[in-house]
This record gives sequence, C-alpha cells and structure tokens, in this order.
Amino acid sequence: MISPTTSLIPRTITQENPYKICFVCLGNICRSPTAEGILQHLIRERDLNPYFEIDSAGTSAYHIGELPNSKSRKVAGKYGVELLSRARQFTPFDLKYFDLILAMDEENYEDIVSLDRNNEFANHVFLLRNFDPKPEDLNVPDPYYGGSDGFEHVFQVIHRSCMALMNQLQNFIDN
Ligand code: 4NP
Repeated sequence: MISPTTSLIPRTITQENPYKICFVCLGNICRSPTAEGILQHLIRERDLNPYFEIDSAGTSAYHIGELPNSKSRKVAGKYGVELLSRARQFTPFDLKYFDLILAMDEENYEDIVSLDRNNEFANHVFLLRNFDPKPEDLNVPDPYYGGSDGFEHVFQVIHRSCMALMNQLQNFIDN
C-alpha cells in the first residue's frame, strides 16, 4: 500500500532540465487528460511553462487517437481548462522517461509497475491522490460509466490534488 501523503524526491527544476510528469488512467480519455489539462493550466497561470513537460497515457489501447471524452471536456471548459490531448497507450519507455508518473487508481498503479521488470522505477510512480489534501479515497473514481455528476466530482478531486502537487513542485524551481 502507498502512504496517503507523499513528498516528492527533491531535485532542482531548471529550464535546461524540465520536470516531466505523466498522468495515467485506463482509457486516457477521462481522468488522465483532465489531470494533464489542469496541471498545464496551473503551470501556465504561474508562467512556468519552460520548467515542465506534462503528458498523459492509458494502460489500455481501447481509445488510442481519440480526443478526451465530451463530458470531461465540458466540465473542464466550465473552469477555463482546455483538454486537447489524443489518447495513447503507456509504454515501458515512459517509465524511464518521466520523473513522475501519477496513476489515477490502484489498478492503474499495478498495471504501470508490472511493466517495471527490473524494479528500477517504482520510486517514480505514485497515486495522484497521494497529493490530495482531502483523500477520503485514494482512487480517482472512473466516471466513464456514471452520470455527469461523476465528471464534476472527478474534476474537483483532480484539481485540488494538482494544486497541492504544484505547490510542492514550485519549491524545486531554480529561477
Ligand atoms: P479513463 O476512463 O480511464 O478515466 O479514461 C475510461 C475510459 C474508457 C473505458 C474505461 C475507463 N473503457 O472501458 O473504454
């Protein structure tokens, strides 16, 4: 089990060595593109674009090439967040490439670490809700089969988790 509060492994973030984060869910059309869009939005608001590279992926191949779900896009749009990514599948290369890999739920987490054959990258993989200041559950619920309330709840959970994450990351920026 992963501890409910997470401190990032400290490292200096510079424009020459930006911090690379990949959010991961099952389909890469609802939760992880929402997280990607929200964190990108927070980074842009703080004028920190050159210090970060943000991406998302799915553990499945179900929706490769698709835009985010229309309900996810609608809720995000209400808060001024645009979701523009195209779905892709998470690969073993991503394990090595990203500084931080954030799974939306424990199943995604297990699927990600199962790709880590030599157990080299487990300390780069966390649940997003390890950063949630109000973690009543460690999983971001899958809204895909629910109503639009689910999408609003998911947005709020991801938003507050990304705010907390951003506040930690900002301490590592060298500018
Ligand atoms: P996501 O939601 O993992 O948040 O993108 C899902 C999207 C599609 C499916 C499941 C979850 N699906 O089974 O197709």
